[in-house]
Amino acid sequence: MKALVLSGGSGTRLRPFSYSMPKQLIPIANKPVLEHVLCNVRDLGVTEIGVIVGDRAAQIEAVIGDGSALGVEIVYIPQEEPLGLAHCVELARPFLGDDDFVMYLGDNMLPEGVERIAEQFASERPVAQVVVHKVSDPRAFGVAELAPDGRVERLVEKPQEPKSDLALIGVYFFTPAIHKAVAAIEPSARGELEITDAIQWLVANGDEVKASEYEGYWKDTGRIEDVLECNQKLLGDLKSAVKGEVDAASTLIGTVVVEAGAKVIGSRIEGPAVIGAGSVVTGSLIGPYTSIGKGVRLTGASIEYSIALDGATVSHVRSLHSSIIGRSATVGSSERNTRHHRLVVGDHARVEVAA
Ligand code: DAU
Repeated sequence: MKALVLSGGSGTRLRPFSYSMPKQLIPIANKPVLEHVLCNVRDLGVTEIGVIVGDRAAQIEAVIGDGSALGVEIVYIPQEEPLGLAHCVELARPFLGDDDFVMYLGDNMLPEGVERIAEQFASERPVAQVVVHKVSDPRAFGVAELAPDGRVERLVEKPQEPKSDLALIGVYFFTPAIHKAVAAIEPSARGELEITDAIQWLVANGDEVKASEYEGYWKDTGRIEDVLECNQKLLGDLKSAVKGEVDAASTLIGTVVVEAGAKVIGSRIEGPAVIGAGSVVTGSLIGPYTSIGKGVRLTGASIEYSIALDGATVSHVRSLHSSIIGRSATVGSSERNTRHHRLVVGDHARVEVAA
């Protein structure tokens, strides 16, 4: 079995971050979403992985490389335009050959893994197997209608009036029969070749398509709120490890990771929290549920339920909550200017100040 991981697309719902980085590289608990995905694929025993990349290919390759650090072999497959999930399967055909494969969306987080479902697919080997999860509002997802035995009766992409509460999760198991379905479908109203339509084509053709319900934690990290929520979930499973320096005037409470080369000076870190390599935290209150990336400078700051990306600086600003601070962004109070707020905020950024 091979794997196809989708890491192209546009990521408009993750602006402003997606202006400068692919959404699959957003860190969750200080590790890019895509790395979490590749580790999940590796845990299925699959090491030959095709990764679809769009116009941010160079950044993805710089972080993930050939996959050897993760114990996998990666072949990058460029996609010029995000023409849909089924278009990705079509592009990957030479890589996939006639093998079975798992297709995994590079922005979907399933921290508990999908081993059980992979085993079910391997033993029953239906023509295709999708994974579903109950959600309160399925309109933003592919939606599955199932027979009592778990056979898929109908799939619809982002229906306005969903007939079930079962959303399609971004993990699919396919036999090579999917290729004839991909070749048969037409672009949808939004101009994309939808994998949902290709699987529905198999259903209509009388092929056996099964669904497994995934009851663990699942998040499509497509929006800022999802990224923060997922970060909290993963930090909740953290194990303490202090490899950096923590001075005697600092207090660490609960589960805290201080990576090698980080310095904590006169600060209180309330876990779960992670302080990335090379970061310097001085006179600050950090956490709970906060990830600080690499080379971040926090001085006189207080920040909770938040993520600071690599190279960010926060100085003398208190009460930051549910925030994401981008790479090398600066948030600070000015000693020279006590009367005004001064903002240099990029396109589609969001600033909310306390009323
Ligand atoms: O998250 C689950 C949902 O993912 C499913 O319920 C839907 O049925 C499925 O269509 C998909 O919907 P999204 O609208 O969330 O897909 P998105 O455009 O975010 O793309 C998913 C991943 O695939 C993301 O990592 C970007 C990548 N992608 C997307 C497109 C359209 C590509 O690599 N190439 C593409 O052409």
